[in-house]
Amino acid sequence: MRSHGCGDLRITNVANSVQLSGWVDRFRDHGGVIFIDLRDQSGTIQIKVDPEQGPELFTQAEHLRNETVLKVEGMVAARPTLSINERLSTGEIEVIAKSLTVLNSVNGTFPFSVSIHDDENVREELRLRYRYLDLRRERMNNNLRLRHNTVKAARRFLENEGFIEIETPLLTRSTPEGARDYLVPSRVCGGEWFALPQSPQIFKQLLMVGGIERYYQIARCFRDEDLRADRQPEFTQIDMEMSFMNQKEILRLNESLIASIWKEVKDIELQLPFTRMTWHEATERYGTDRPDARYGMELVNISDIVKNIEFKVFSSAIANGGSVKCIAIPEGNDAISNTRIKPGGDILREAEASGAGGLAFIRVRENGEIDSIGAIKNNLSEKQKLELLIRTGAEPGTLLLFGAGDTSTVNRVLNRVRQYIARDLVLIASASDNKIWNFLWVTDFPMFEFNKEENRLEALHHPFCSPNLKDLGDDTANYRKRLPNARAQAYDLVLNGLELGGGSLRIHNSELQKQVLQTIGLSAEEAQRQFGFLMDALNMGAPPHGGIAFGLDRLVMLLAGEESIRDTIAFPKTQQARCLMTQAPSNVSNKQLEELYVASTWNPEKQ
Ligand code: AMO
Repeated sequence: MRSHGCGDLRITNVANSVQLSGWVDRFRDHGGVIFIDLRDQSGTIQIKVDPEQGPELFTQAEHLRNETVLKVEGMVAARPTLSINERLSTGEIEVIAKSLTVLNSVNGTFPFSVSIHDDENVREELRLRYRYLDLRRERMNNNLRLRHNTVKAARRFLENEGFIEIETPLLTRSTPEGARDYLVPSRVCGGEWFALPQSPQIFKQLLMVGGIERYYQIARCFRDEDLRADRQPEFTQIDMEMSFMNQKEILRLNESLIASIWKEVKDIELQLPFTRMTWHEATERYGTDRPDARYGMELVNISDIVKNIEFKVFSSAIANGGSVKCIAIPEGNDAISNTRIKPGGDILREAEASGAGGLAFIRVRENGEIDSIGAIKNNLSEKQKLELLIRTGAEPGTLLLFGAGDTSTVNRVLNRVRQYIARDLVLIASASDNKIWNFLWVTDFPMFEFNKEENRLEALHHPFCSPNLKDLGDDTANYRKRLPNARAQAYDLVLNGLELGGGSLRIHNSELQKQVLQTIGLSAEEAQRQFGFLMDALNMGAPPHGGIAFGLDRLVMLLAGEESIRDTIAFPKTQQARCLMTQAPSNVSNKQLEELYVASTWNPEKQ
């Protein structure tokens, strides 16, 4: 049906007879000559329909509509000099039509334009409802190609490194990755349920026990959690597991994988190795385990300087076991007014949204004098003031913002304020013209964090991560006592403040696995019931192993300069976890429910 792609023709094709197929992108009647921009995946080309070619052809062209699917036969000609379009790769030529065949006509009204000439900002709801039209637009078409190229580059790298792709089940038991499960009722085993995998975690470990030394999978994962721009209920991981490799070797291999993707897809040479930072250092310096290190304004701990001052907000925070930290904003005096930090101000609102009671501040003046509202200034001695200025690197013009309270709240507040101010002062470029690729390995996460609501420890990553054996000592009887404070041999890859992937070395010792499960509150019986099959496998010659999974959707989002992973997925769900196009989820018949032994307790009034 076609001899060339529309966008592939060039001046060298002049005088060639061609056959093209595509969509009518745009259609203009210029005083007796009709111009059609014909578009396919390769690009667009101008078709000229001249009345001299016959009145029938001309009448046919006059009745075309945008987005008609059209086959054109014709001859390539050079455009007159004055009508050359330098912005188009086919802008020097046009095709003089000899025949037009409508392959499919257009009957509905279009909810938005798909033309390459219109990059209008269409409401996302409309784009998702008519996703097939949205995909026809250049932006989404390019994003899906980029996604494909990313997967292609990853496969090529991994296969060259001896990894083999293996599919793991989608109908399985719950894997504890921290989110709610999507459940599937079993018809055959009445009253029992499958869970869709939150990740292939346990299966990939069992593949290692099965002697597959290097596994990968482009794996679909399902998590029923609150959605955000970088979270979908079903998403894709580049998932890997490998035997007989230590953490250093795993990180090195994985940064080479990332570098080869950037090279193939963007022709960018990344500098290796990536920076490594412990979890402790990351939270201390940035208040978060996924720091955006493209700009400064790091958190500075000043607890020791202010622990005894009269200003109670500071001293009592420290007396209660918390901390006082601050961020220094160079030139902040000019850039940020008091109204923005005081009640009702946008910066204070950001701080409050993550739990701050207020936002104390100091302005550093010309001669090193300081100004503050409230009591801080009057309660600092000259020595304390000097120490504060030196520690924070403050200069005349600097604004210091303080957080005081329990350390995790202080970190959360200052992390959020730091990011907000960086965007506000345009210290980071917008995603679409992002040229800095700040990769960072964060290592040595704690094994557990305390879940206040459930009053128990829970695994920070998942309960199969290996603790750092140095933190456990030699005495196995003491493991249970030492486990709660141990570090995990776990690592995350962070890019520009976003978590791209995470993994760990795994526990390959059945007894240790049992103890970790007990530390998160599972009784010995419960551990055996849920994970007995894993512990049996660990007892039968499990090799030392470890792995990682990258969020493919997030990777492509950053490569494409998009702000949401929805723009990297062909058919994504909304924030309410709905597909607007197919209207899923939807009701099913009572008969189907009966066959599955399921009854609904849904009551719209109660909900
Ligand atoms: P983790 O839970 O950290 O690790 O997930 C790995 C990566 O998957 C991406 N990701 C998501 N992307 C889109 N939507 C979501 N809802 C979502 N949740 C996670 C992130 C994240 O870094 N089994 C372990 C990996 C391992 O230990 O090998 C796991 O799944 O980019």
